[in-house]
Amino acid sequence: MTRIKLCNRADVPTNGIIRIADVPGIDIPLAVADSDGRIFCIADLCSHQTASLSDGWVEDGCVECPLHESRFDLATGAPDVPPAREPIATFPVAVENGEVFLLERQP
Ligand code: FES
Repeated sequence: MTRIKLCNRADVPTNGIIRIADVPGIDIPLAVADSDGRIFCIADLCSHQTASLSDGWVEDGCVECPLHESRFDLATGAPDVPPAREPIATFPVAVENGEVFLLERQP
């Protein structure tokens, strides 16, 4: 299975989120989030307007957009309240030996 290292696990604060700007083969910035010890990877772009979700807040498995406060489920990408109506992209990750890896999507 192809995998790409995104960051060290320790780089992601508890209930925090960091931007991963340049990921080989991915043409958008990503963000890695911790929600109560679980690690997620999402597109670092709100589906409503141009806002970086890594500038937002993580709580209860969601990230809140810093611009208009829609919240996105970190696992599914689904928004909970307007103005965002479209989901954000989510990406499969694994944590091994203190490192966070992006896993290749299965067809
Ligand atoms: S830019 Fe994110 S909710 Fe508007």
